[in-house]
Amino acid sequence: MKKIILVFTVLLIIVGCNSPKNYSGKLSVIDLKVDSILSLMTLEEKIGQMNQYNGFWDLTGPAPNEGDAANKYNHLKQGLVGSMLNVRGVEDVIKVQKIAVEETRLGIPLIIGFDVVHGYETQSPIPLAESASWDLETIKKSAEMAAKEAAAAGINWTFAPMVDISRDARWGRVMEGAGEDAYLGSLIAKARIEGFQGDDLSKSNTIAACAKHFAGYGFAESGRDYNTVDVGTSTLYNTIFPPFKASVDAGVRTFMNSFNELNGIPATGNKFLQRDILKGKWNFDGFMVSDWGSIMEMIAHGHAKDKKHAAELAVNAGSDMDMESYVYVNELKTLIDEGKVNVTLIDDAVKRILKVKFELGLFDNPYRYCDLEREKEIIGSKEMHDAALDMAKKSIVLLKNDNDLLPLKKTGQKIALIGALASDKNSPLGSWRIAAKDNSAVSVLEGMQQYNENELVYAKGTDVSIGTHNFASEVKINTTDKSEFKKAISVARKADVVVLVLGEVGFQSGEARSRTELGLPGLQQELLEEIYKVNKNIVLVLNNGRPLAITWADKYISSIVEAWQLGSQSGNAIAQVLYGDYNPSGKLPMSFPRNVGQVPIYYNYKNTGRPGPKKEVFWSHYQDEKNSPLYPFGYGLSYTTFKYDNLQVSNVNNNKVNVSVQISNSGDVKGKEVVQLYIRDEVASVTRPVKELKGFELVELKPKEAKTIEFVLTDKELGFYNNEGAFIVEPGTFKVFVGGSSDKTLDADFEL
Ligand code: GLC
Repeated sequence: MKKIILVFTVLLIIVGCNSPKNYSGKLSVIDLKVDSILSLMTLEEKIGQMNQYNGFWDLTGPAPNEGDAANKYNHLKQGLVGSMLNVRGVEDVIKVQKIAVEETRLGIPLIIGFDVVHGYETQSPIPLAESASWDLETIKKSAEMAAKEAAAAGINWTFAPMVDISRDARWGRVMEGAGEDAYLGSLIAKARIEGFQGDDLSKSNTIAACAKHFAGYGFAESGRDYNTVDVGTSTLYNTIFPPFKASVDAGVRTFMNSFNELNGIPATGNKFLQRDILKGKWNFDGFMVSDWGSIMEMIAHGHAKDKKHAAELAVNAGSDMDMESYVYVNELKTLIDEGKVNVTLIDDAVKRILKVKFELGLFDNPYRYCDLEREKEIIGSKEMHDAALDMAKKSIVLLKNDNDLLPLKKTGQKIALIGALASDKNSPLGSWRIAAKDNSAVSVLEGMQQYNENELVYAKGTDVSIGTHNFASEVKINTTDKSEFKKAISVARKADVVVLVLGEVGFQSGEARSRTELGLPGLQQELLEEIYKVNKNIVLVLNNGRPLAITWADKYISSIVEAWQLGSQSGNAIAQVLYGDYNPSGKLPMSFPRNVGQVPIYYNYKNTGRPGPKKEVFWSHYQDEKNSPLYPFGYGLSYTTFKYDNLQVSNVNNNKVNVSVQISNSGDVKGKEVVQLYIRDEVASVTRPVKELKGFELVELKPKEAKTIEFVLTDKELGFYNNEGAFIVEPGTFKVFVGGSSDKTLDADFEL
């Protein structure tokens, strides 16, 4: 590092005539520094910055001297590695950083990436759950805490937020996103990026964020992960792109491309996506990292004939860094020598990467994220868990409470708690829990035991899965072992109330975890029906990573709580909601289907030329199922009730529309409501959805308290992208809808 500072200082003196104070061009000081370093680098060293390796040897042991890890280790020593992922913990980060900074010719520091998707060691709720809070401030705080904890472990870059919109609960990665709506998804993307990156990326408790997976990954055909994506232009511009554009506008410093092909061209080799749109139209000045091995996978896609061709396609298309394909480090120099890749593209990619490293302060101090004392003090701290608990409570959605079984009485009750998931301390951590300690979540059982003035009896009922599983293994579902049914039924029979925790184990959703069925896995539905035969007072608590088709439960079970996978503080959050110490305020960010056959199902659908219902048969419907979801987007109940009155639309001039509504708490307890505003552009040159979310406000009201909520609609809300990618606003008739769910609203018309 000493070398580079000396050389660097000399260079800045030379460049000094253009020193920033006299320099009036567009280049920032960092740009000048980057240019200076670039001018020192050999072609091999430049290519090295574009190469990212996974943590590749047992860092607690001697460095490898043979095999693949040895090659990577030697590349590290030769300055041919720009970044590493999955190296974590101050001690190990120092080890690899020291090699890069002190043993290579120029000492350029590594950027250390990790999947801090919803927490580092302390897990907050899965992102889909956090999105159900519609609480942007709390979501931002959650990301801020994750960044602080990860940075304390030496990490300075997270591969998050995942901003892929999806309408298909069969796809396992819906757990990782913000659901089906581009407007909500865009605001949540912004909140998460601001939380991770803070207002100063060089601070030691902020990390670079990464908008992923660009683009269209959530539209994988049949909900099967990594599958083909074929979408129309209007969906691309109006549904898929907006959260990514919002990420650029929020200042995200990196992007990650996606595994899928988009309309015939793999995203990693897709120039339209990466150069024309991202770096061109949107003027993104950060860098694009490939997804794991996605450059090499263009061979399997049938788009590249070999590794060298894959490297050529990817770098020409704008993929700046190669995650674990090893093709840039091995093929790019030859491609440049053969004139197939222009060195200016290498320079552009390297400048982007170096710029982010400067912004992170890594050149000032490559060890700024490596403080052993801070690591001990911050990781797993009370501050982290308090934030996780707060986020978890706000993420819970009350789906049903017909007989007011909830909130539970705090004394004198005999409560049967049933379900393997009720004592499961792993599943609430979700599937992106790489740095979390196994079995570290507070279980529902442990949370409920805090309320010790009731008699609480636990029975497992049935295992959801067989044996153990982890991030890289399949989950085997129990479909035969009913040995615990009898005990559970007996416990249920004697109880005043049964709390039944059913759903999915942690690794049934997430990457590579697609499902063709959306019911309760394994024997859980049978258990539910058996329990129902002996006790009707059931509170069903769902622990799941995706919308489930729980049509039977909706018909027969009087109280249903959607509790997702809520992270480290799951059991405490659930218990506090069940006992009414927190009045549930969540709203669904994704529609729940009645039947997997309805999927993809979403609220902002197009009307079609044959909407219904109609008396005759020729309209868009199913013979065997309703069109509507079981629970719609934006739906969620409370222990109180809210009333909407007096929807007013005024001041419709030069495309500015004022909307106001009065909301009152018509119940007996304080509660929070997400007041939602939707519009419909009735006639347009490109058809518009029957409803589009264009505003919401989270409001807390005491019993009988009322408040007037105001919204302003401008071009930004009233316009849309046409099929040429231009954002336009067209005159005509609009409807505006306001309410506490996408399907229950007041409405009014206005002319634009
Ligand atoms: C994965 C994921 C991506 C993740 C990366 C690094 O396969 O698709 O989201 O960030 O690899 O773990």
